[in-house]
Amino acid sequence: MNYRVGDILITRDQISARVNEIAEDIRKNLAENKNGQELLVAGILKGAVVFIADLVRAIGRDVDVRMDFMALSSYGSDTKSSGIVRIVKDLDTYIEGKNVLIVEDIIDTGLTMSYLLSILQRRGPANLKVCSLLNKEGRRKVPVVVDYCGFEIPDEFVVGYGLDYSGRWRHLPDIHVAVPV
Ligand code: PRP
Repeated sequence: MNYRVGDILITRDQISARVNEIAEDIRKNLAENKNGQELLVAGILKGAVVFIADLVRAIGRDVDVRMDFMALSSYGSDTKSSGIVRIVKDLDTYIEGKNVLIVEDIIDTGLTMSYLLSILQRRGPANLKVCSLLNKEGRRKVPVVVDYCGFEIPDEFVVGYGLDYSGRWRHLPDIHVAVPV
């Protein structure tokens, strides 16, 4: 099946406003955190890159933000349903005792995030939180607590602002529905 870029689901202005709100929440929670104001943003490649770039700048200079990235890949076609994910690129950072914020573009079945949380939790971070720009709660196969959620969306195929169709359209500034052609 082929797709084209359809209507805008979430505009760049809506995204920008929500990013600022999330950044404010993150700042407040860190200020109350006895473990201090240092935050490691663990971005999941590639979809989250555009969101992360805006989010870290919105968090601002009062927080000691560090950025690191992970790349994950499925083990063949079964993986999306099995939840077994291969780490293609691991974090370079040692996370024991740190405040870690995993940042994703979208949580769908929850299998990827659930697996990732189990891996990172074993490394002993002081604090491990999840931030996702988009959330499809209705598609969950396993429960995942999303500490910071940008937008709850229906079960639509969406592209833009980091999200792709076969590697395309990540650079679009708004989030669109992709329509089959
Ligand atoms: C997306 C997203 C999550 C995963 C969520 O990644 O970034 O990692 O799918 O799906 P789940 O909740 O059903 O596990 P994708 O495989 O599209 O990779 P990309 O970010 O590189 O485009």
